[in-house]
Amino acid sequence: MKKLIILGCGGFVGSHLIDRLLASGEYHIEGWDISFDKIAQHRENPNLSFHQRYINADTTFEEIEPYIADAEAVISLAAICTPAQYVSSPVKTIHSNFIDAYALIDLCAKHKSWLMHTSTCEVYGRTLSSYVPTDDYDDPDLYEQREDETPLIMGPSKNHRWSYATAKQLFERYIFAHNSENGLPFTIIRPYNWFGPRMDFIPGRDGEGVPRVLACFMTALLDGKPMQLVDGGDAYRTITYIDDAIDALQKMLEGPKNSRDQVFNIGNRGGEVTMKGLAHLMRELAAEITGKESFLSHPIEDITGNKFYGEGYEDCDRRVPDISKAESLLGWRAKTNLRETLRITMADYFERYGRD
Ligand SMILES: NC(=O)c1ccc[n+]([C@@H]2O[C@H](COP(=O)([O-])OP(=O)(O)OC[C@H]3O[C@@H](n4cnc5c(N)ncnc54)[C@H](O)[C@@H]3O)[C@@H](O)[C@H]2O)c1
Repeated sequence: MKKLIILGCGGFVGSHLIDRLLASGEYHIEGWDISFDKIAQHRENPNLSFHQRYINADTTFEEIEPYIADAEAVISLAAICTPAQYVSSPVKTIHSNFIDAYALIDLCAKHKSWLMHTSTCEVYGRTLSSYVPTDDYDDPDLYEQREDETPLIMGPSKNHRWSYATAKQLFERYIFAHNSENGLPFTIIRPYNWFGPRMDFIPGRDGEGVPRVLACFMTALLDGKPMQLVDGGDAYRTITYIDDAIDALQKMLEGPKNSRDQVFNIGNRGGEVTMKGLAHLMRELAAEITGKESFLSHPIEDITGNKFYGEGYEDCDRRVPDISKAESLLGWRAKTNLRETLRITMADYFERYGRD
């Protein structure tokens, strides 16, 4: 039985990863999180030991260290990762994504333990195309992101929107620093909008605050409120189905020779859509899933980023992953198209939360 550590095991990605790894019967997992709700079905599984604790660099790592020394891999998922919090709570965001977590890198380097870290495609920040005087996106060099070449372009420090991306970027740089000075084995994963069942929460039902866009649009559909398009909804995202993403993580775990000391974009190039396009598609699918035609005309309204998120909001304009490294080294590419990803995900939300 291979021993793994998963920090943030109770979140959206963690819950899907735990389902997959426990089903394989090959792993014993030591998991840390503050909440166990999304993996409650595994509570009695002898191959999962759950440590219900807030991870903090000053206190928790002493307790984690003996497990690190012994683990096949340490998978780090714990983070604040909702855009609303980057702007409203930048101190907490930077703590969560760097200060509370950097000691993990020190310890993995000390024990030469393999650190698999979920970073984010947000580390790329804005694209070059957003700064050149043209509206057309015909030249892929201006918007496609290659792990080891593309510059990371952040907005001004006064705009808290970048608190998350810069903390994640520093975390990556600290991993690279320990790799070259101390031989830390690592894999950095840059997820591109992984969507699926159990993502985030519906405010007022099983959580409070402003979730990521999928749950924001679902809340509007479930509660009969307008879907709000931030700054016109022109920003592009590439939506990737969570099962495909978990395939990639599993391939990395099973093929360390090809996945160690690499950064991987994990995203579905074919799943690209603007936020406006996403809202329209979700209305259509809500009607299809529930059989209620009224969803086709569900209200959509515009709102500014500063009003929706708070002062200091700006957006990444477009993210298209170059996935040639994942294809050649892992044999991975996304299999599930955008419509199917949303259909499965939304059907799960409707089933879990119902309407009215
Ligand atoms: N889902 C995506 O599309 C996406 C995109 C980009 C990056 N990521 C990255 O992937 C990782 C997992 O994302 P997710 O979507 O599962 O997020 P999530 O919010 O669903 O899960 C994160 C989990 O970490 C836990 N956590 C956070 N800080 C903690 C702490 N200090 N101590 C203990 N537990 C803590 C939370 O309770 C939560 O269960 C994150 O690092 C995130 O930045 C995800």
